[in-house]
Amino acid sequence: MGRIAYVNGRFVPHGEAVVHIEDRGYQLADAVYEVWALFDGRLADAEGHFARLERSLSELSIPMPMSRRALTIVLKEAVRRNRVRDGLVYLQVSRGVAPRDHAFPAGEVRPAVVITVKAVDRAAAEARAAKGVSVVTTPENRWGRCDIKTVGLLPNALAKQKAREAGAAEAWFVDELGFVTEGASSNAWIVDGEGRLRTRDTNANILRGVTRLTLLDVIREEGLQVDERPFTPDEAVAAQEAFITGAGTLVLPVVAVDGRPVGKGEPGPVATRLRRLYIERARATAI
Ligand code: PDD
Repeated sequence: MGRIAYVNGRFVPHGEAVVHIEDRGYQLADAVYEVWALFDGRLADAEGHFARLERSLSELSIPMPMSRRALTIVLKEAVRRNRVRDGLVYLQVSRGVAPRDHAFPAGEVRPAVVITVKAVDRAAAEARAAKGVSVVTTPENRWGRCDIKTVGLLPNALAKQKAREAGAAEAWFVDELGFVTEGASSNAWIVDGEGRLRTRDTNANILRGVTRLTLLDVIREEGLQVDERPFTPDEAVAAQEAFITGAGTLVLPVVAVDGRPVGKGEPGPVATRLRRLYIERARATAI
């Protein structure tokens, strides 16, 4: 059975799923998205991703295309039709289709909705986490509203390509003061010399990661110390551990930054334990 996509009210074979050439997402990146991790075919951190979707849409004055309840049903139906147990669900909502003009279209335009589902090989993901990944740094060059999860991802795509060419899994953006903001598709963390967890605060120009938020809960329950405070790449190299979080990576140990080993150059105990605890929590609360 092949993959199935959802496009504007219809489930269609993935290979035949198309949007209009004047979709504003396609022409102007006038669209937002969300990604949910799937455990046993259920949506992880569902509430957090819905809340951020609603916020992203509202910041851009795009209406919710349907109620949260209806959207949940459609997302789950997409997962069911694809028979995916472990994987990712991608949802994109654009302002809709209208003759090209930078300003919003006059009159009512229906938001365009696309959903795709893909399987993830959890065994391979665990093997990758057990080895850890490398990151490279790159100058921050994104717009000032990275808190909105828009599909305007060209700087992120270029940063990720730079990482790939360097044999790394992720690129960390570094702002003009020399601090890491976040990854191209993840949030960045370290366990500093004193054993305190550190990640950038969300007043900075970063995405408010849902995985980050859930992990903060887990960390507090574990009684670990955490500072929502920026760090530099040098501090990451001098740290005991580093890791990234996101729906695609969950909690993934980082063992090198720009070719310089972090700590012992292998996944540390804190990141390894937090990965396990996060996955347990996400699995237990998935809907
Ligand atoms: N990316 N920062 C950026 C720039 C991201 O794109 C993402 C997620 C995150 C982590 O957010 P969350 O924990 O809510 O997934 C942080 C998704 C997975 C993507 O673009 O595929």
